[in-house]
Amino acid sequence: MQREIPILSMNHLSKTFKKSGFDLRKKPIVRAVKDVSLTIYQGELFALIGESGSGKSTLGKLLLKMEAPTAGDIIFLNQTDQTKVKRSPEEMQIIFQNPESAMNPFMTIFNIVMEPLKALGQEQLSSEKQVINILKKVGIDESLFQRFPSQLSGGQKQRVVIARALVTNPKFVIADEPVSSLDVSLQAQIVNVMLDLKKEFHLTYLFISHDLQLVSKIADRVAVMYQGEIVEVGETKDILENPQHEYTKTLIAAQLN
Ligand SMILES: Nc1ncnc2c1ncn2[C@@H]1O[C@H](COP(=O)(O)OP(=O)(O)O)[C@@H](O)[C@H]1O
Ligand SMILES: [Mg+2]
Repeated sequence: MQREIPILSMNHLSKTFKKSGFDLRKKPIVRAVKDVSLTIYQGELFALIGESGSGKSTLGKLLLKMEAPTAGDIIFLNQTDQTKVKRSPEEMQIIFQNPESAMNPFMTIFNIVMEPLKALGQEQLSSEKQVINILKKVGIDESLFQRFPSQLSGGQKQRVVIARALVTNPKFVIADEPVSSLDVSLQAQIVNVMLDLKKEFHLTYLFISHDLQLVSKIADRVAVMYQGEIVEVGETKDILENPQHEYTKTLIAAQLN
């Protein structure tokens, strides 16, 4: 396992949201991400864990430049990010939790997976081959290619979302609760697909989850997020065996015992 080469570093990253509405009794701002500094290495499966509302998705969006940081910066592939330059789908992609809302219901499965390649302006013929190839790899049979999302099961839909994220051959993949919407029986199958593809394409994953049980089985390292802050980070085994922060101890007691 290669651990020496950083792929992405966050330096003092913060994000503050202004609350909408005019209720002056409430605090007018939310500090969703507070002064986060982390480095993720090439080939890692790096898990970000924490309860709902702790800022995990916001951190993911900052990395993808779907949101601009209030403070701090990101170094990706040895380059400090310029906020105005969009993230290329050949570099970084995201897999969202909810496959329903992540797909256009009026597009066929084939076209949904083709979309990111079209956006890159890639040549038609080789793109089609890439789409077929990745759909087969995630376990979607050719008989489903011309169907619409509503004609697929939950597990099949999440496979398609994974295919769409990986069709551009990105180096860094953010998976934001990728299996949380699925039945437990399906979760392992989909995670295994993700792990197989990680190996095959030498991917680096940021795996966002609230499920410590799952993370304990798959992650190389874990960062624990609590109220916008990273309270603990380390090798998965060390965190589980010797948690330092009270919040991590509570999580372990609630989910692993
Ligand atoms: N676009 C937004 N506008 C205002 N507040 C937001 C926005 N996005 C997230 N938040 C707030 O930021 C905090 C962290 O949210 P989020 O990153 O979604 O947490 P998690 O993914 O860990 O559940 C929450 O209090 C949430 O309400
Ligand atoms: Mg979230």
